[in-house]
Amino acid sequence: MTGRIAAIDQGTTSTRVLVAEGAQARIALSLPHAQHYPQSGWVEHDPEELLANVQACLAAAGEIEAVGIDNQGESCLAWDARTGRPISPVIVWQDNRTSAELDQLKADGAGELPLAHAGLPMDPYFSASKLAWIVRNVPEAKELLAEGRLRLGTTDAFFLDRLAGRYVTDVTTASRTSLMNIESGEWDPALCALFGVPIEALPRIVPTVGDFGSVKLNGRDVPIVASMVDQQAGLYGHGCRETGDAKITFGTGAFVLAVTGKEIRRAPGDGLLPTVAWGRDSDGITYALDGGVYTAGAAVDWVKRLGLFDDFAAVDHFEGPSAIDRGLVFVPALSGLACPHWHRDSAAAWFGLTLDTGPLDMVRAALEGIALRTAEVVTAMSEHVALAQAISIDGGMSTNGYFCQFLANVMGRAVLARDGGERTAIGTALFAGADAALAFADHGADRRFEPQGDPAGARARFSEAIDFVRRWGREPPPC
Ligand code: G3P
Repeated sequence: MTGRIAAIDQGTTSTRVLVAEGAQARIALSLPHAQHYPQSGWVEHDPEELLANVQACLAAAGEIEAVGIDNQGESCLAWDARTGRPISPVIVWQDNRTSAELDQLKADGAGELPLAHAGLPMDPYFSASKLAWIVRNVPEAKELLAEGRLRLGTTDAFFLDRLAGRYVTDVTTASRTSLMNIESGEWDPALCALFGVPIEALPRIVPTVGDFGSVKLNGRDVPIVASMVDQQAGLYGHGCRETGDAKITFGTGAFVLAVTGKEIRRAPGDGLLPTVAWGRDSDGITYALDGGVYTAGAAVDWVKRLGLFDDFAAVDHFEGPSAIDRGLVFVPALSGLACPHWHRDSAAAWFGLTLDTGPLDMVRAALEGIALRTAEVVTAMSEHVALAQAISIDGGMSTNGYFCQFLANVMGRAVLARDGGERTAIGTALFAGADAALAFADHGADRRFEPQGDPAGARARFSEAIDFVRRWGREPPPC
């Protein structure tokens, strides 16, 4: 039996703390933070606001014996080593500001190096080009670099530096920068040179579980013992341990991760990302394959903002044939298309609108479109790793029965929906040493959806819609 553990889940839209003791767990505090959109395609967070929310969550956890922290992955910033003061905003993973320069690098033939060394395509999603943007565009960054005081890192490194005085990042987070060599688990000098990121300003890469220093809470030094990306925490929290075990988290985006064990599965043709699932001193790196749909919950929120529905709980049952079987299709490419297309210029669209189309038809098509995009990722993934027949899902959309059943149908696999399960925070708590019984406790009823019907027609129609949005993105017709 372990003592009380605080698991901080610092995500894209909120910071939450789960306090775990034995098999019991509760969310003690959840704080939203502001999203800043200073220009089209730019997405920023205030680093001090995120840190203050992490500290408030730690304070709300009460007497605890250890802390684990998960982070939002590729989001990154720069700060002053001497003062800890940020000199840039957090540039969020969704931010697209470096798209044009990466297109130029690809046109110059440089796209092969990140694929070969980091296993990743050249895309603004990853931290490398964002960090290079800061070095080039924030005057203070150059001054601090010249003085040897510049720190460039993902948000975890900033939190750990400010909370515990440790300038480190864990190997899962480093694997999302496109600066780490996926084979060695070390910063790759050739990638740093390619993107223009000074290697000396990066944090040390350490295992996911270990000594991250300590944070002063209620007059006591409490050790931070685990740090990792939120999606990887979710993978662990879903109980995925063996090759082929997979989970999908439906948050802002939909992120599919499958464990691939000690093997790196490279799948450049399908746009899947080999990534680190976790790294331990005892058994080294365990790998995963990752595929993301950038807008899932964010697309639902957008549809709601349009006024097409009020209450998500009220749109989980529809009569008659699916929208796509009636010729109405939605492609949720509101931030472009990621895996397996990697086409950032694509935009979202409904196809097949007629005079009798109503708001609920459009909502239904939106839910189906998110499921169909997710199925594309799962299908691509199944070419490279033998996936378990049932896939475990969580996040806001997993509460919607219509969505879960449609997802099972178009994936041709069972869906295990883990409602209210806080799988990300539970994974973080487990990495931090929480009692293993936590993973099996009833934190929310699991519902199982078996696939029904033949998805071939729906998938073919959806592929046609995808082809269209890709063409439109590349060559929008002149006005
Ligand atoms: O890659 C970005 C992803 O890790 C963010 O997840 O839950 O913070 O939206 P979330």
